[in-house]
Amino acid sequence: MKKLSLGFLGFGNIGVGVWTLINDMYDEIATNNGVELDIKKILVKDINKEREVDVDKSLLTTNPDDVINNPEIDVVVEFLGGEQPAAEYMLRALKNGKTVVTANKMAFALHWSALHNAAKETKSGLYYEAAVCGAIPIINAITESMQGNRIDHLYGIVNGTTNDILTRMEKNGLSYEEALKIAMDLGLAEPDPSSDVDGHDAAYKLSILASLCFKTNVKYSDIYIEGISKISKTDMEYAHNFGYRIKLLAIAKNDGGRIEARVHPTFIPIEHPLANINGSMNSVFIHGHACEDMMFMGRGAGSLPTASAVVSDIIRSTEHKSHVYPNFYNNGNFVVDENWESAYYLRFAAKDTPGVLSKISGCLGENNVSIQAMQQKGTSTNARVPVMFITHTACEKDIQKAIKAISDDVATLESMIRVENL
Ligand SMILES: NC(=O)c1ccc[n+]([C@@H]2O[C@H](COP(=O)([O-])OP(=O)(O)OC[C@H]3O[C@@H](n4cnc5c(N)ncnc54)[C@H](OP(=O)(O)O)[C@@H]3O)[C@@H](O)[C@H]2O)c1
Repeated sequence: MKKLSLGFLGFGNIGVGVWTLINDMYDEIATNNGVELDIKKILVKDINKEREVDVDKSLLTTNPDDVINNPEIDVVVEFLGGEQPAAEYMLRALKNGKTVVTANKMAFALHWSALHNAAKETKSGLYYEAAVCGAIPIINAITESMQGNRIDHLYGIVNGTTNDILTRMEKNGLSYEEALKIAMDLGLAEPDPSSDVDGHDAAYKLSILASLCFKTNVKYSDIYIEGISKISKTDMEYAHNFGYRIKLLAIAKNDGGRIEARVHPTFIPIEHPLANINGSMNSVFIHGHACEDMMFMGRGAGSLPTASAVVSDIIRSTEHKSHVYPNFYNNGNFVVDENWESAYYLRFAAKDTPGVLSKISGCLGENNVSIQAMQQKGTSTNARVPVMFITHTACEKDIQKAIKAISDDVATLESMIRVENL
C-alpha cells in the first residue's frame, strides 16, 4: 500500500474539513485508490486555540519549516488564506520538490507564474481545484475534460456571499445593507466583507478560469472589477420589470484573440438557468465550440464541500505518472480589451420638463448607443422623475462618452448596470 505523508498549512474551516474527510474516508480511500493519507504536521498560528476536532496536539506546530522543510512530508496542503505568507510557503515547498495542493485563490492567482515555474523546475505537482468554486470540479473539467474544444466564453457566479446577498435583496425586498447584515450574522460574509462584495474574490477566480480556458495568462490586474455595494432595491425592482435578475457575474470571452475579463453586477434574463442560481450556490456556464453550452452548479464554499475538492486533488496527485502543467501557448498573442460590447441598464433622475427624454436619447444616439426599452415610473421628487433605459449592444467607451455628454441640468445618472442577453 502506498503511503502519502501530508503537511497542512492552516487548520481553520477548510483545514478541519480536510482533516475530518480524510479521517472519515481513510479506509475507503486506501481501498479505492490504493493510498493511505497520513497527516504528519499542521502549521497553525496558535497551538493552544480550542479546535472543533480532537486533534493530537503533537501534530501542531507554529514553525513553517516543520512542514515545508520536513523530509518526511510528500504533499503540502495550503489553506492559510491571504496572499502572504501563503504564497512564499507554497513556493518554498515546491522548490523543495513537494507537491502543493491549495484552496487559496488569492495567493494562487497573484503568484501563479512563480509557483508554476517552481513546480515545473522541480517536477512537483501543483493542484488548485478547491481555489475556484469549492466543490465544483471546474478546473478539471476545463483542463482534463474539455481539451477537444476551443472555449470562447464563460459566465460564472463564483462568489456565494454576494449571490446570497443579491438573492435576499430580490426575494425579500431588502436593501443591500440589510442583506449584508444577515449574511454576516449567518457567517456567510467575513467581518471585513470587502474582498467578496467589492468583487476581488470573484476576480481571483476569474483570472484562474480565463487563463485555463484561453491558454494565456489573464492576470488579476487585467480584470475589470466592480462590486455589488451600489445595487439598490430600486434597481432590483426595475430589473424584474424589464425581465431580468441581477447577479454578480465573472465574465470571460475570447473573440479571435481579443479577450474580455470582467466582474460586475449584471442584468441577466430571468429565464436563463444562471438567473436561478440562488443563495450561496455557485455556478459556471461555459461554451466550447464542440461541446456547446455546459453548466456546472454546486457548493462554492463550506468546510466539507471545499474539502471534497482538496482531498480529490491529493489523491489525483498520486495518480499521475508525472505531473501535468497548463500550457499557456497563447501568452503574448492575446490582448485583454477593455472596450467590450454590452447592453446597458441606465437609471436617471431626469428633470420633470418637456423635451428631456429627447435630450437624453439624443446624447445616447450621438455616441452610437441606441435604446431598446424605456420605462418612466414613479412620481416627481425635487422636480426629478426616474427614467430607465435598456440599450442595444454598445461599446463601453461609447456609453461612457454618452453619459458624460448628458448634463446634470437634464438628468443625473443614478445607476448603470451592464446587461448580458445570454
Ligand atoms: N471558507 C471557505 O468556505 C473556503 C472555500 C474555498 C476556499 N477557501 C480558501 O481556503 C483558505 C482557508 O480558508 P479558511 O476559511 O479555512 O480560513 P481560516 O478559518 O481563517 O483558517 C486559517 C488557518 O490558517 C492558520 N494561519 C493563518 N495565518 C497563519 C500564519 N501566518 N502562520 C500560521 N498559521 C496561520 C490559522 O491558524 P489558527 O487556527 O491558529 O488561527 C487557521 O488555522 C483561504 O485561502 C480561503 O480563500 C475557503
